[in-house]
Amino acid sequence: MNAAVTLTTLQRMKESGEKIACVTAYDASFTSLLEQAGVDIVLVGDSLGMVIQGHDSTLPVTMDEMIYHSACVTRSGKSALRIVDMPFMSYASVSQALENAARMMREGGAQMVKLEGGRHRLDVVRALSQHGMPVCAHLGLTPQSVHQLGGYRVQGRDQASAVALLEDARLLEEAGASVLVLECVPSAVARQITAAVAMPTIGIGAGPHCDGQVLVLYDLLGITPGKRPVFSQNFLQGAEDIPAALQAYVKAVKDGSFPAAQHSFD
Ligand code: KIV
Repeated sequence: MNAAVTLTTLQRMKESGEKIACVTAYDASFTSLLEQAGVDIVLVGDSLGMVIQGHDSTLPVTMDEMIYHSACVTRSGKSALRIVDMPFMSYASVSQALENAARMMREGGAQMVKLEGGRHRLDVVRALSQHGMPVCAHLGLTPQSVHQLGGYRVQGRDQASAVALLEDARLLEEAGASVLVLECVPSAVARQITAAVAMPTIGIGAGPHCDGQVLVLYDLLGITPGKRPVFSQNFLQGAEDIPAALQAYVKAVKDGSFPAAQHSFD
């Protein structure tokens, strides 16, 4: 069995340059397969609202639903670090965030909670980390703000917004964030942020220079209905079976062959 991955493990991986492989997980069986394939982090993402529940955004997902899926993942999880998304409007105030993150850890078995947003989240990030609840921040395309962003589109393309992203990353780290997800930002911006912060960065549509990569499990297996996001790859194509596809993904992340130029944005 693989040794349990902790925050210290991730920190060492960043320092040594070993790439971190992360995939979303929503149930017990896939969690076991992901761990057997050597995945370092399983993310119980609120993407489950779209790929499992069939909604057209992550907004309808509730705390109880996230706790249910997190507990399913926790029951079979042994080695990968478990990060769980805080759903839309579950962390709008410090007191609400403390209460809900504690439930996510106590009832769902989360080892770290993820929340979206930059400088306006600093109080929440500070309070959670001061109470021993590790935080994964999420910048760039933040799907819970899809209506404010005007759609699912690449962020940080102009100079001012790229600078704001870099500042947000620094501020979140100062406030206590331990890991940072960067979604759909130009490769050069992700590279700059990754070099500027000590916390590991995990990219999705953020180019090859992040400390690790994450994909939505169903995209990785090519079973998400509709058009495949350009930043993902169907690893089941050419693989013998699902375990082989998951191993191929981990290998491609570790050897740096994924993401390639066609999965990244300028
Ligand atoms: O919900 C999710 O799956 C995520 C990843 C896309 C990073 O937040």
